[in-house]
Amino acid sequence: MLQLRAPRSALAAAAALSRTTSATTARRSLSSGSPSKQQQQPQPSALPFTRVGVVGMGLMGHGIAQVAAEAGFPVTACDTSRASLDKGLAMIEESLKRATGKAVSKGQLSQADADRKVRETLARIDVRTDDVSRLASSGVDLVVEAVVENLAVKRSLFEKLGRETAKHAVLASNTSSFPIEELSAASGRPAKVVGVHLFNPVQVMPLVEVVATKHTDADTMERAVAFVRAVGKTPVKCKDTPGFIVNRLLVPYLAEAMAMVDRDGVDPQDVDTAMKLGAGHPMGPLRLADYIGLDTCLSILKGWVDKYPGQGFFVPACLERLVKEGKLGRKSGQGFYKW
Ligand SMILES: NC(=O)c1ccc[n+]([C@@H]2O[C@H](COP(=O)([O-])OP(=O)(O)OC[C@H]3O[C@@H](n4cnc5c(N)ncnc54)[C@H](O)[C@@H]3O)[C@@H](O)[C@H]2O)c1
Repeated sequence: MLQLRAPRSALAAAAALSRTTSATTARRSLSSGSPSKQQQQPQPSALPFTRVGVVGMGLMGHGIAQVAAEAGFPVTACDTSRASLDKGLAMIEESLKRATGKAVSKGQLSQADADRKVRETLARIDVRTDDVSRLASSGVDLVVEAVVENLAVKRSLFEKLGRETAKHAVLASNTSSFPIEELSAASGRPAKVVGVHLFNPVQVMPLVEVVATKHTDADTMERAVAFVRAVGKTPVKCKDTPGFIVNRLLVPYLAEAMAMVDRDGVDPQDVDTAMKLGAGHPMGPLRLADYIGLDTCLSILKGWVDKYPGQGFFVPACLERLVKEGKLGRKSGQGFYKW
């Protein structure tokens, strides 16, 4: 295996799937003294929702709560335990302090303004422990679900959200791999359900895939898109198909690169060099797969093969073998490369 030093910046696409890129090491979106167009805070009257609920304050949920609060939305967040909520809030505070600290050191913000921004953003986030009813009664008209990637958990949550939130409330899921349709059916009001797929780290990644099912109504889609714009991100509209746009193109590409290694005994470094120098990609597919985590790649591909037979998805032999050997990529120290 090849020896590699970890590159300083991960390819954006890796962040679509991977937990390895730390939200705390990256550039932050907090408004500074000279805000960019993306960072400008809309007037509350222009915001498309009155209050945003976030369910799950983990890796993605804390980022979603943060960018919504930074954009001026009052936020109610819930999780299963006080400890999870505290962890989420601590990540937000650290992220905000880092961003404002940078702005202060560049002379873009005074320390007093920085402290005020952190205080005001945190003050917009109200937290409720494991209680969707209380979340619903806080007046949320948009809920973004970011709980663990487990269909049974998400289904039961959407059932409860459909029952307990106001009838006009939009219910959004951040799922990367489940059909939004399954959640919309559970909610009992599919017209108001939409996918809002943010990327990791939320504070940094500019893209959001907004996913319509065949039941999502136009108003729901329009308001979800407006929410994405309000938090300073770029929306793209997607159909409710496996992997939406980014992962649907990215994951099969990675699988083809792995199949090449299986079929032809090609050196992984040659595949990566070819795509870097021949296609202008900042990182080759096998190195990218190591970044994402080979177990993550395997679980996505296996899920697609099972759920969507006949659509050309397959599991490369070398991927199964490496995962069986505990070689999961960067996080375990070895995958296609030795890190
Ligand atoms: N991690 C990524 O790179 C990434 C990128 C895009 C989308 N996603 C999607 O975002 C979602 C969340 O992923 P994550 O990486 O943030 O997971 P995570 O494990 O970091 O966080 C999940 C949080 O949900 C909480 N939770 C679990 N069940 C709950 C319930 N019933 N009610 C309230 N809270 C509950 C957990 O306590 C935890 O804090 C998943 O659907 C995932 O597919 C993840």
